[in-house]
Amino acid sequence: MTVTIRQLHPHFVGEVSGVDLRKPLTAQEAADIEAGMDKYAVLLFRGQDVTDEQQLAFALNFGQRESARGGNITKQEDLRLTTGLNDVSNLGKDGKPLPRDSRAHLFNLGNCLWHSDSSFRPIPAKFSLLSARVVNPKGGNTEFADMRAAYDALDSETKAEIEDLICEHSLMYSRGSLGFLDYTEEEKAAFKPVLQRLVRTHPVHRRKSLYLSSHAGAIQGMSVPEARLLLRDLTEHGTQPEFVYVHKWTLHDLLMWDNRQTMHRVRRYDHSQPRDMRRATVAGTEPTVQQQAAE
Ligand code: OGA
Ligand code: MN
Repeated sequence: MTVTIRQLHPHFVGEVSGVDLRKPLTAQEAADIEAGMDKYAVLLFRGQDVTDEQQLAFALNFGQRESARGGNITKQEDLRLTTGLNDVSNLGKDGKPLPRDSRAHLFNLGNCLWHSDSSFRPIPAKFSLLSARVVNPKGGNTEFADMRAAYDALDSETKAEIEDLICEHSLMYSRGSLGFLDYTEEEKAAFKPVLQRLVRTHPVHRRKSLYLSSHAGAIQGMSVPEARLLLRDLTEHGTQPEFVYVHKWTLHDLLMWDNRQTMHRVRRYDHSQPRDMRRATVAGTEPTVQQQAAE
């Protein structure tokens, strides 16, 4: 079958048809999808009733798997999924919605803030692939912002000002902004801030993106309040409606996004009802700081 892509938003997002993600891809299909990702930054595949294994196998066409370790506060023995996918559901190991006051639930609420996956890791994620296994009855849309279009729309003075800025990212900054402030010594060590450039260049088409994320909490050489105001201003700019695509989930949708060119967030939903979303994450290949310095 031939892969075809229909653009869904003036700046980005394509809906893909002509591919069955339960089956191994041909080299041509994988190349077409990767090229589609470079161009559209977010791709939607509808009606893909995949298993965890099939989802992971599909992801591995685009790079190596990023381990979920260090990205949450759930202990290894409490994990619901042991298939190599990130559990982005609201469910506990017993398959029921997590209690409203549970630490895991409160921590996971951080996904409601605009972010780019794993920007808190020294080498952040390349692609994320999210599959809808149970859709929540109320809310829970996922929104995406095109950080290339957002960068392009900045005035030249701002572009020059931010070109070489380096930010510190940590899960403690994103969660901290929601008032989640208590961490064990082990968590503090795991969530130690990492450095990321504020402006990234895409390795293939060379377009620049604003590399923002709620995990960013400081900028090197700047006071914290000034840095946070700048980050807040840029985030406000980059998430204006003209740069945002809103996805309303249907069962078995699979959405794939490029974390190097977009931000996303989930909107509030009914936490008394299940929402089972599973993510395969494709690892990045180099630190963003080094990436640019090598040019
Ligand atoms: C993610 C994420 C949003 C959602 O999987 O990285 O932020 O809609 N998920 O669950
Ligand atoms: Mn995410």
